[in-house]
Amino acid sequence: MPTMFLCKSEILPLLDMKEVIPAVENAFRQWALGKAQMPPKSYLTVDKGDFRAMPASLPGAAGMKWVNVHPANPSRNLPTVMAVIIYSDPETGYPLAVMDGTDITAYRTGAASAVASKYLARKDASTLGLVGAGRQAHTQLMAHAALYDLKLVKVYDLSEASTSRLIKAFPQYRIEAHTLPEVMDSDIVCTVTPAHSPVVRKEWVKPGVHINAVGADAHGKEELDPEILNEAVIFVDDMRQASTSGEVNVPLDKGLLDPNRIRGSLGDVVAGTKKGRTNDREITVFDSTGLAIEDIACAHMIYEKVKRNSEFTRLNFVEA
Ligand SMILES: NC(=O)c1ccc[n+]([C@@H]2O[C@H](COP(=O)([O-])OP(=O)(O)OC[C@H]3O[C@@H](n4cnc5c(N)ncnc54)[C@H](O)[C@@H]3O)[C@@H](O)[C@H]2O)c1
Repeated sequence: MPTMFLCKSEILPLLDMKEVIPAVENAFRQWALGKAQMPPKSYLTVDKGDFRAMPASLPGAAGMKWVNVHPANPSRNLPTVMAVIIYSDPETGYPLAVMDGTDITAYRTGAASAVASKYLARKDASTLGLVGAGRQAHTQLMAHAALYDLKLVKVYDLSEASTSRLIKAFPQYRIEAHTLPEVMDSDIVCTVTPAHSPVVRKEWVKPGVHINAVGADAHGKEELDPEILNEAVIFVDDMRQASTSGEVNVPLDKGLLDPNRIRGSLGDVVAGTKKGRTNDREITVFDSTGLAIEDIACAHMIYEKVKRNSEFTRLNFVEA
């Protein structure tokens, strides 16, 4: 049973957002029901960015993602985020596959937001706002388009090049460049910037909006004015990760956020143990830090698709 190697160009055609969304949704459910394991992410900070080691297991699947965030990479023609996943047999520990995790990261991050929107946004949501138009914004759009009939997508990015790349990449949707306050006037908003201070102001936020706060995934990062969080009902992907590295980490540290605004985790809502949105005027926020269970759920899905396919490279890593 040699180890399978799947590179980026092989992974991308195997990713279908319509399959990734239920896989990620199921991972949230398993985690909330105590059927998954996920030790805290371990961070390694270097001069130009950071690395994270992210292990997890789900029923029948185990593995670890090794991922970086280097914000200056686009100027070197490299993605900000790149990842490798080691996928192992939980029964024996055998390394079944080593796969590129860069696109898996982007797809599962988009899927996690779409799952949050499915449970937390207003049922009549039809417009999407994107704050930030980089790599993750593309999959936020793809994931929402897989679940919603989007009438309009409004986008704002500091970089005009990022905005026009996003608009050109999806000619099938009505996407318009807007000012930040205009983007916030959408039913669902995804914030996907690497900001370390609030980008979105309280006065731009409308009652009834659902915000997927995705960009803050390390200590010191934040995208939303803490006053937004203090008026919202907040759901985290994982409390331990969110309080140290998610959207709520800075305001919690500074004593600017009432911890009672955090109603529970998305998994609780998916598993039906916590109520999500309770009325159409509530502001809901999903604090996404990115969970290893999301990656391992996708790695499992991909491995199951290709395990009998002899076209892919295999190496006898472990001598029998
Ligand atoms: N929560 C998660 O699971 C998860 C997963 C992957 C990445 N991330 C985070 O998402 C963020 C974006 O990642 P990416 O891969 O899309 O990066 P990227 O470099 O491809 O894109 C970031 C975009 O944000 C824009 N931007 C920067 N500051 C801005 C501001 N103040 N207002 C508007 N736009 C601004 C940049 O111009 C760029 O186009 C990073 O912080 C990354 O760490 C989170």
